[in-house]
Amino acid sequence: MRLFFAAWPPAGAAKALVAWARDLTRDCGGRPTPEETVHLTLAFLGEADADVARATGRAVKAPGLEFRIEQARYWAHNRIIWVGPREVPEALASLAAALGETGRFAAHVTLIRKARPPRVLPPPPAVAWPVREFVLVRSRLGSRGADYEVLERFGLG
Ligand code: 2AM
Repeated sequence: MRLFFAAWPPAGAAKALVAWARDLTRDCGGRPTPEETVHLTLAFLGEADADVARATGRAVKAPGLEFRIEQARYWAHNRIIWVGPREVPEALASLAAALGETGRFAAHVTLIRKARPPRVLPPPPAVAWPVREFVLVRSRLGSRGADYEVLERFGLG
């Protein structure tokens, strides 16, 4: 199964972020992330065993944290527009490492895919995003984008 650990925003935060992204598509085109699938990936496991991943999630003992959205960026290599913190906080980096993120962890929330380079990137809305739990998600890739299924929730703090 294609698996990842992630944190989901409060509904109000997702709504504000997607509204910001929709406005921006007038400039850069592309496909905004649907409100219900806006997320922060904590660890992308790829093809992995779900039982092992569940055990990893249950074993993690970490405090809750506040995820800060401080900047918007465009990545030309995969043509996404994302928002996230200016620097990855230590607590978030160690949570990602504990969950098995092996690559260089770049805390980012993808809001538009297949975007052209924007002329200007306005600052993202200042949303509150407390991270009190994380989830193990199964991703199925389809013609209309990825379909996510939450397999298990894990508390923090
Ligand atoms: P993305 O938003 O930048 O595409 C599910 O695919 C989640 O895992 C997405 O948030 C995706 O990030 C992230 N992810 C991290 N590394 C990935 C990889 N090597 N391949 C696909 N998705 C990856």
